[in-house]
Amino acid sequence: MIKRVPTTPFADQKPGTSGLRKKVKVFQTANYLENFIQAVFDVIDDKQGASLIIGGDGRYFNRQAIQIAAKMAAANGFGRVVIGRAGLLSTPAASHIIRTQKALGGLILSASHNPGGPDEDFGIKYNTANGGPAPEGITDAIFHRSRGLDHYLTLDAPDIDLDRLGDQSLAGMTVSIIDPVAAYADLMESLFDFNAMRRLRDHGFCMTFDAMSAVTGPYAVEIFHRRLGFPASSVVNGEPLEDFGGHHPDPNLVHAHLLYERMMQPDAPDFGAASDGDGDRNLIIGRGRFVTPSDSLAILAANLHLAPGYASGLKGVARSMPTSAAVDRVAEALGIACYETPTGWKFFGSLLDAGRVTLCGEESAGAGSDHVREKDGVWAVLAWLNILAKRDLSVDGIVRDHWARFGRNYYARHDYEGVATADADALMTKLRASLATLPGRSVGALTVARADDFAYVDPVDGATSDRQGVRILFEGGSRLVFRLSGTGTVGATLRVYIEAYEPPTGRLDREVHDALAELILGAETLADIRKATGKSAPDVIT
Ligand code: G1P
Ligand code: ZN
Repeated sequence: MIKRVPTTPFADQKPGTSGLRKKVKVFQTANYLENFIQAVFDVIDDKQGASLIIGGDGRYFNRQAIQIAAKMAAANGFGRVVIGRAGLLSTPAASHIIRTQKALGGLILSASHNPGGPDEDFGIKYNTANGGPAPEGITDAIFHRSRGLDHYLTLDAPDIDLDRLGDQSLAGMTVSIIDPVAAYADLMESLFDFNAMRRLRDHGFCMTFDAMSAVTGPYAVEIFHRRLGFPASSVVNGEPLEDFGGHHPDPNLVHAHLLYERMMQPDAPDFGAASDGDGDRNLIIGRGRFVTPSDSLAILAANLHLAPGYASGLKGVARSMPTSAAVDRVAEALGIACYETPTGWKFFGSLLDAGRVTLCGEESAGAGSDHVREKDGVWAVLAWLNILAKRDLSVDGIVRDHWARFGRNYYARHDYEGVATADADALMTKLRASLATLPGRSVGALTVARADDFAYVDPVDGATSDRQGVRILFEGGSRLVFRLSGTGTVGATLRVYIEAYEPPTGRLDREVHDALAELILGAETLADIRKATGKSAPDVIT
């Protein structure tokens, strides 16, 4: 029976860079999740009889949230919901299923790489029929609708069985529980040369994949172990846990440091990789060589044609503004377009849909292609394996070869977390006010060529996004970028992106910190970070 439940609006349901992300305790507040879902359903048209995909990264509250979402979908007139068994779907797999099932859209339950558990984070976002995150027009409408809600619709019905494959009925709506892995693994097999990778394995190549006790475990076991034949022990932390074993499922050098330390040993496997909570990020480390995400994107751009799914070359590439310009140089050499977009995967969607780009990536460990409309961690790992299988070089060899051709973009991101929102806003306001005075100013041996607040006009639909972060561009290709995070759940996070370009003829083997020292000092001088944040050093450096 359909129930109309009276409710009052919450003021804070504005979706950020990747959906609505809050503490679990907030989502457990009476009507909180229900209000958001109703706001989503109210702004999307053509629900009657349509299909909706629902899946999550398995974190604490995932199962309860799915029960709530499924009942509300039935009460709001959907004809069918498709749910990954045990409530699991990696974000890229959800994107794929939305596309192949011709669904109206999907609800993805995840707080990505944020920690999970009763006192940690939860999140929800709506993806549209193209499989990608809803564009700003829709997320703004959802927020607007959430402010005016006075009821939501749900069902008085027993819970569905999330662990039984096949169809069930929920008040006339079909609920299909599907294997979360199979279709995705088939897609990967259609894009990459699995035989070449098996031969690599036969020649003694060893890999290790850290699933960080998050959603990619089952995907990794199926693909790396069952289909490619690597030993089962190649997948570590392969079982999804509600609290990710108490860790941050964030594949970077801080949270995946055990993998990093292992890979720096002389007897390390040839290749190490990891993915995050919901499976869209990737970390790539060769023996003795960490590959920065920005370099990884550039290397994929230069080599992806070695994979069968990309044999005809790339139509174009796109990177988020803070991502290093390494990929720009590859695009230039290939004679293809390179787009610079604001942070967040949703900006790539229209370029991918319009067929303008094949490959996209972000400095925050995200890369992906036009096979889905999300970044894709396991895809990036397979792309690297495919390249390694086709080139007679180690990871380190491929990276050095790349720098020797294109030069090296030394790169780091400094995060100042939990800063008082007013203080972070004040820092950005001051920086913005100083933009006109910056050109010509020197930072060590570097001279500012240009400074602006990044604004973007989507070349496909003309949508504009301004105030996307302060860029300070130096002569010779080095850069400083300042922006505030759109995904944090406590206070504000200031991100400072530091990039120093060294041409192929320059010094390619410096320590990153040394190569960036001058710019790091410059960032402090230009933005008074210590004074503004009250912090003497960044909380996280990646
Ligand atoms: C961060 C990353 C961004 C990524 C987003 C979602 O957003 O910087 O590249 O798209 O997470 O994974 P931010 O917190 O910086 O807004
Ligand atoms: Zn993620």
